[in-house]
Amino acid sequence: MKITMIGTGYVGLVTGTCLAEFGHHVTCVDKVAGKIEQLREGKIPIYEPGLEALVHKNVNEKRLCFTTDLASAVPGAEAIFIAVGTPTSRRGDGYADLTYIFAASKEIAPHLRGYTVIIDKSTVPVGTAAQVERIIHQENPAADFDVASNPEFLREGAAINDFMRPDRVVIGVKNDRARHMLQEVYKPLFLRDTPIVCTTVETAELIKYAANAFLAVKISFINEMANVCESIGADISALARAIGMDGRIGGKFLHPGPGYGGSCFPKDTLALMRIVQEHGESLHIVAAAVEVNAAQKARMVKKIRDMLGGSEAGKTIGILGLTFKPETDDMREAPSVTIIPTLLERGARIKAHDPQGMEEAQGYLPGEVEYMKDAYQVCEDADAVVLMTEWNQYRALDLERVKKLLRKPIFIDLRNVYDPEKMRSLGFQYTGVGRSLNP
Ligand code: UDX
Repeated sequence: MKITMIGTGYVGLVTGTCLAEFGHHVTCVDKVAGKIEQLREGKIPIYEPGLEALVHKNVNEKRLCFTTDLASAVPGAEAIFIAVGTPTSRRGDGYADLTYIFAASKEIAPHLRGYTVIIDKSTVPVGTAAQVERIIHQENPAADFDVASNPEFLREGAAINDFMRPDRVVIGVKNDRARHMLQEVYKPLFLRDTPIVCTTVETAELIKYAANAFLAVKISFINEMANVCESIGADISALARAIGMDGRIGGKFLHPGPGYGGSCFPKDTLALMRIVQEHGESLHIVAAAVEVNAAQKARMVKKIRDMLGGSEAGKTIGILGLTFKPETDDMREAPSVTIIPTLLERGARIKAHDPQGMEEAQGYLPGEVEYMKDAYQVCEDADAVVLMTEWNQYRALDLERVKKLLRKPIFIDLRNVYDPEKMRSLGFQYTGVGRSLNP
């Protein structure tokens, strides 16, 4: 099949590359010339494990190419994916900004030739597909097309595997003609017996938001329970394990931490609340999850302050991990982006390290942050070290060395990577999230 992917951001690039790996001929289009140039030179603008090798393979096998010229990439394509950004609107009202989606639709319209399915891949509010359809029809009344919704459920850091072996594929279509086309696109997954949920366009659009909102609720629930454990003197790890063993609850997404971040949960929870409000409904549970998430970040600052004896002023704090989660260089909505500036404002000196995110971090964090070459340099002469993101590199630290390098052996583990008893027996003043009272 000939497929065009509009937008080579995270979702577009991963999806386009994986579709080429399925055997389709994929042209990826982006307006940013520098990005296309980079991709043509074989350089990948984001860090995603396995992506670079897959891009190179499919480019070499001539199934994947990159261009800025939308007019040449659209004619003849049987399926056109729209995977442009849908950031939270600058108005600050939680709405998703659909400017890029609508602009792409307008641009595609005059170049359509033959029956084409236009597929919304970006996370968009309910009703967007219908709007895209109207725009294309207005621009080119003669065009023979359908608009479908096919939300992505890719986790950063595991996106290739999530695409190739998904829990399910959601397809929202208006008719059989479009459904058949999408079945062709995902044929290798059909052959592998991947569950496919075929539904209306509106339901598909809502499924994506509901899935992300539910996961955000799950995380905020466990974070709140972790805080309760701290007050009661209970242990969140045993609690999460035990409740997760109930098949109705499930053990995943029950890890407490400094709050969820990333490009999806914060944005999609706000957008969903806006959507339901427009329909005269409310989602109290999602609203609470958002509130709890903000409070969790603030609580982490207090946790650090308490461990430092009540004040950050004049203290050097080492930070291990800056990205919102491991195996990505993405800094969007990372807890570090809220926590570090607060510590700086209160007079702390910050020394930080991240295996992939340090370059990206500079655009998100104040200039005073000092970037170190590894975890040990971070610990050198610091008054405390904070494990912010659970990169594998930080899971097996030489703890004796860490203790010697630190000015004071204070270890604040915001991801519960280490065992509290062991840390205490090694002589650390250690705290995690929900596993202990402050020592
Ligand atoms: C998420 C969804 O998982 C994916 O299906 C969707 O398409 C996009 O959003 P992603 O943002 O890449 O993917 O990250 P994810 O692994 O889901 O983690 C999101 C945030 O939640 C991270 O900040 C992570 O640290 C946090 N988290 C996750 C927890 O704090 N505890 C958990 O148990 C799980």
